[in-house]
Amino acid sequence: MAKSVAILGTQWGDEGKGKIVDLLSERVDAVVRFQGGHNAGHTLVIEGEKTVLHLIPSGILQPNVECMIGNGVVLSLSALKTEIDGLQERGVDAVERLKISAACPIIMTYHELIDHVREKARGSRAIGTTGRGIGPAYEDKVSRRGIRFADLLHPQRLESKLDEILDYHNFVLEKYYQVEPLNPSMVLDDALQLGACFSHMLADISGRLHQLRDAGKNILFEGAQGSWLDIDHGTYPFVTSSNTTIGGVCTGAGVGIDAVDYVLGITKAYTTRVGSGPFPTELFDQDGERMAQRGAEVGATTGRDRRCGWLDAVATARMIKVNGVSGLCVTKLDVLDGFAELKICTAYKLNGQLINQVPVDAESWGQLEPVYEVLPGWSEDTRGITDLQQLPDNAQSYLQAISMLCGAPIHMVSTGPERSENIVLQFPFD
Ligand code: GDP
Ligand code: IMO
Ligand code: MG
Repeated sequence: MAKSVAILGTQWGDEGKGKIVDLLSERVDAVVRFQGGHNAGHTLVIEGEKTVLHLIPSGILQPNVECMIGNGVVLSLSALKTEIDGLQERGVDAVERLKISAACPIIMTYHELIDHVREKARGSRAIGTTGRGIGPAYEDKVSRRGIRFADLLHPQRLESKLDEILDYHNFVLEKYYQVEPLNPSMVLDDALQLGACFSHMLADISGRLHQLRDAGKNILFEGAQGSWLDIDHGTYPFVTSSNTTIGGVCTGAGVGIDAVDYVLGITKAYTTRVGSGPFPTELFDQDGERMAQRGAEVGATTGRDRRCGWLDAVATARMIKVNGVSGLCVTKLDVLDGFAELKICTAYKLNGQLINQVPVDAESWGQLEPVYEVLPGWSEDTRGITDLQQLPDNAQSYLQAISMLCGAPIHMVSTGPERSENIVLQFPFD
């Protein structure tokens, strides 16, 4: 039976979604991005060769897979061009198989500029965004003044929309942020030029997905960022500007809830976060440094060091419920090799009270003190193991504890960055 699978990160991003999307793409006809933009950095390693994708779906390295960018994605055409050129240079066709929704809001040069000047103005209260213009582009979408992909193919329509938008943004840039305003005709020319380069990719993604579904084809929905970066359910305001949780699939691709048969939650065996914001289990000691070093925890998009800490089962359990996760893929288990003991957060203390749920009010997040269950570590090397029984007993017990404390079955385990380094207990498509 055909199946559609959604792959979502259950933490603060960088859980290893790209690797798993690439692996499962072998079994699908289409891979769809439905939210976020080129703030994402999804890393694929195939026989030692590393590919980092930001905007193009991680199915692109599997031949014959249709790759789609849904209406929920904010689209930077210059970033897309750079990414396509990089793939084409390596002999990967990223032109014929890529289709983009006509309704995608475009990230314009002014969005990136606003992102930068606003973060600078916030000083110590900065969100720590990726500086890609993501938030400002979503703001224009919601305020109904955004430029959509289809607009780029109609010069007069675009010119009149841009006149109005730039009138507003240039006023804010000049008067409020005190930076140089943008030249409308330069913005227009750039946008028209880039739009023309990609006009052949314009498509009705929602309609195409319905066709594929009706024809009994398998589809993969590729989440970007992590659930705790969700604009509604995350650690607001330290979040991204899209719905990274399950609802984003329907609104960002144009499918019904019946189009998702299985939700694979990607959970790192510990936790990382890039940028500002609360992180109750964050470590500032040698254990955190060891995770960062063994896990090579450097942001795939911005090159910033990722903050590291223990697995938070309370936070993860919440996101398993929010997303209706069917099964988990626990990634980077091998990074924990050699730790004498491991900790999993099972509750918090807030104002002296023990709580076993996340706080309702996002501001309280910063005051949480984690309460841990301590488990024994293992000294053996687990890198590349593909059979659960080959894992040290303590690694198996650690996985069992994650499943029990987070409240979901583990269907896959990733034991290295390579496409082949996995333990598969149940394929989502079986
Ligand atoms: P994404 O944003 O969720 O796709 O994750 P990223 O690609 O940003 O970050 C995950 C990083 O961990 C990448 O460098 C991957 O190559 C790497 N990785 C993924 N799975 C594993 C694993 O099981 N073990 C190790 N050691 N590295 C992994
Ligand atoms: P992937 O798909 C980790 C974080 C930024 C910042 C916040 C808002 O690789 O998991 P934005 O530029 O989106 O307005 O920044 O969100 N962030 C990510 N962190 N992985 C990502 O994507 C991220 N995309 C955005 O660091 O804290
Ligand atoms: Mg990433």
